Amino acid sequence: MEEIVEIGEEPTRMPEMVRICDEKDLPKEGNVCEMADGNLCVARIGGRISVIGNHCPHSGGPLGQGMVEDGKVVCPLHGWAFDVGTGATDEDEDLRVRVFESDVRDGALFVRPPERPS
Ligand code: FES
Repeated sequence: MEEIVEIGEEPTRMPEMVRICDEKDLPKEGNVCEMADGNLCVARIGGRISVIGNHCPHSGGPLGQGMVEDGKVVCPLHGWAFDVGTGATDEDEDLRVRVFESDVRDGALFVRPPERPS
């Protein structure tokens, strides 16, 4: 069922969550991987699955080929670390990686895709 969220005065329809993979294919604790044809980086940190964009906002590095260090996803190209909750990095306060709403249920990972401009 679709949710309707009010932002300002215009009601906006949020996209349905999309099934990404079986739960058994999710990364193990302290690991990351690429999903959705390389568009998503999925991490398991502290037992929790988080989903962020796979393309590093610094210079496009594949975050899902990086690693987890001190609870953050570290880009394999230049080592910038990203908070999976906020998408922020200490390296540049103006750059953030996209954070996706996600849910593991019914044996699978579901992710809410970005809203399309209407
Ligand atoms: S491309 Fe990710 S830190 Fe440079």
